[in-house]
Amino acid sequence: MQSMTIRRPDDWHVHLRDGDMLKLVAPFTARQFARAIIMPNLMPPVTQVAAAAAYRDRIAAAAGPDFTPLMTCYLTDESDADEIARGFDGGVWTAAKLYPANATTNSASGVTDIRNIHSPLERMQALGMVLCVHGEVTDPAVDIFDREAVFIERVLTPLLSDFPELKVVLEHITTAEAADFVAGAGPNVAATITPHHLMINRNAMFERGLRPHAYCLPVAKRERHRQAVRRAAVSGSPKFFLGTDSAPHHRPTKESGCGCAGIFNAPMALEAYATVFEEEGALDKLEGFASDHGPNFYGLPLNAGTVTLKREATDVPDLLGRGAIELVPFLAGQSVDWTLDD
Ligand code: DOR
Ligand code: ZN
Repeated sequence: MQSMTIRRPDDWHVHLRDGDMLKLVAPFTARQFARAIIMPNLMPPVTQVAAAAAYRDRIAAAAGPDFTPLMTCYLTDESDADEIARGFDGGVWTAAKLYPANATTNSASGVTDIRNIHSPLERMQALGMVLCVHGEVTDPAVDIFDREAVFIERVLTPLLSDFPELKVVLEHITTAEAADFVAGAGPNVAATITPHHLMINRNAMFERGLRPHAYCLPVAKRERHRQAVRRAAVSGSPKFFLGTDSAPHHRPTKESGCGCAGIFNAPMALEAYATVFEEEGALDKLEGFASDHGPNFYGLPLNAGTVTLKREATDVPDLLGRGAIELVPFLAGQSVDWTLDD
């Protein structure tokens, strides 16, 4: 196949940040996607409807008219069910995000115990509002490579037994356990999959030295997990869909004695997914994964319009940015097999 045209896709999990970083990264996402679920882990986190509406307007200004940001509410121990319902009914919030406290970047205000958000979750279940989940336990006694699997056992399984109708997206899955859990759960449970978790395993962080640009959370796992996640992505199941988790950090904050978690893949996300789907002999499944399964799960209309990918290599730059912000993109200095035709 030399070229393929698919319905315009969406990104069901992205970090666009704010200020100059937002201005720099938003156009990359808007070039690729019609809509995106915007993560609320700013400093301070986006917990109130008014703050989300103002952030939405800043994103719209940075991304241009062809892009629709879908906002999320950052859940905390103090989250109020009425405020969540008000934002959802008013069309500001599409979903709410559960960060276990201190699980990842800017999650210090996250939830310390799932029992603290019982009433918001009850309301969300009644409203049909999606819960996006960062699925890792923070117990320091649990090995970092096991934190997703243990979260499923300790937190997600009990949560779904308390709220059996709650719509849950287990974000950025990285393990065979997560892929199996989601595949075997009810139709109210789905997962997003990133390009990096399809392309790298944990060796990438240690290839001839420490590689901070391959570090994200959940951290990449063993090869057998990458293979399981790849099978889920190309399975054609409506439970698995595209979410880049593109998470830009200014270069010095990654290349540091304590480097931030996050991989910036927005510039060539779709090209990377196409490369993986072709390697798996499943290009016919790309449109469902990128453009249909997400809106169907969220209960949103499919996009009008199409995008075309050509089978031509795209070289990924070593560095992106301008002025005070420098970003090392995913696959810097390498290439992907497809090109998005603008
Ligand atoms: O690698 C990550 N980066 N994982 C997350 O959960 C957060 C994200 C970020 O905000 O940088
Ligand atoms: Zn994320």
